[in-house]
Amino acid sequence: MKYVRMPIEIESPEQMGYENVKYNLTESSFADAELGDLDLDLRKLVLCYGDHQGNRALRSLIASDCGVHPDEVLITAGAASALFVIATTLLQAGDRILVEAPNYATNIETPRAIGAEIDFLTLRFEEGFRPNLAQLAQKLHPRTKLVSLTVPHNPTGSMLTESELRQIIELCARHGVPLLVDETYREMAFAGPLPVAASLVAADAARPPVLSVSSMSKTWGLPGIRIGWLICRDRKLMETLLAAKEQIFICNSVVDEEIALRFLQQKAQRAPAIFARMKQNFTVLSDWMHTQQDLEWVQPAGGVVCFPRFRSDCPVHIERFYRVLGDKYKTFVGPGHWFEMDRRYMRIGYGWPSTSDLREGLAAISRAAEEARE
Ligand SMILES: Cc1ncc(COP(=O)(O)O)c(C=O)c1O
Repeated sequence: MKYVRMPIEIESPEQMGYENVKYNLTESSFADAELGDLDLDLRKLVLCYGDHQGNRALRSLIASDCGVHPDEVLITAGAASALFVIATTLLQAGDRILVEAPNYATNIETPRAIGAEIDFLTLRFEEGFRPNLAQLAQKLHPRTKLVSLTVPHNPTGSMLTESELRQIIELCARHGVPLLVDETYREMAFAGPLPVAASLVAADAARPPVLSVSSMSKTWGLPGIRIGWLICRDRKLMETLLAAKEQIFICNSVVDEEIALRFLQQKAQRAPAIFARMKQNFTVLSDWMHTQQDLEWVQPAGGVVCFPRFRSDCPVHIERFYRVLGDKYKTFVGPGHWFEMDRRYMRIGYGWPSTSDLREGLAAISRAAEEARE
């Protein structure tokens, strides 16, 4: 493995110091929960090694929600480690992966660190950032060992339809290629969640595996407990994925698992307020976007991010724009280079800040753009 730190992590607000950020529009999650708000008494919790596959009650809850068996769920340290376990299990140096671009950086960087050859499934602004199925079919290669999608997509918020997802599953099956669907934002699809991709293939079928990944970080605002999971119905592969987990960290923190469990037990009561705030913030964002002459966007269909860009005829000095935005207005967005894209694109995360901070942050973007005109 050749590890290289990614700009999205080096320049993240937690690494820069939250105290230096007034309006944080960099996040791709809902606002972080406070432990006190969860009202938990964990004093009786035994701090033992946990079940290596993950807390049984937590797996059962996730499994019943996702339409699979608890043994088809592996709890991981966030979706990030699920993605790592999957990539290092399925890919070797010289293998090829077909992965969407732009993307959450890890989905590209871990295969790269392994030494895999990367084929990009390019998501174009002009095509609504939606994966092109003809391009997908065309880019499958005899050495392709993994197809990797993210739905809803980060950083663009684009979606697939259920029919498209099923077509992609069938296409991968025909080519004998495992499919990974990063569903970290699944519950935030505006039109309602798609079925969990891994649940759409029969257990133990003699076909390539479909793996789904998700976590507590984004919809529920609990990134600090580092709980995620992967779902896979191929029991033999699951055994290897468990071996990978055991070699990296044996089991999860039992404290984190317990917090996730108690939170999910109350999901139905907590969800309405969370979704109401996301909707309210989305309205603020889209009202603002419609007043912007310098920016154009693909309206997102899920998640809490969008990926607008400066129009090609807008004479903005891009370095000055980010400098003014950060230094003068203490406002931060995810610049294009976090996603290996031109810096005229930016990811705006609208679900994390309070509605009033979001308004201020968006106004700061408009002002910085005005002040950075050439
Ligand atoms: C698409 C996607 N997958 C996975 C992750 C990792 O999330 P976590 O490890 O906090 O669950 C992120 C975080 O931004 C993401 O955007």
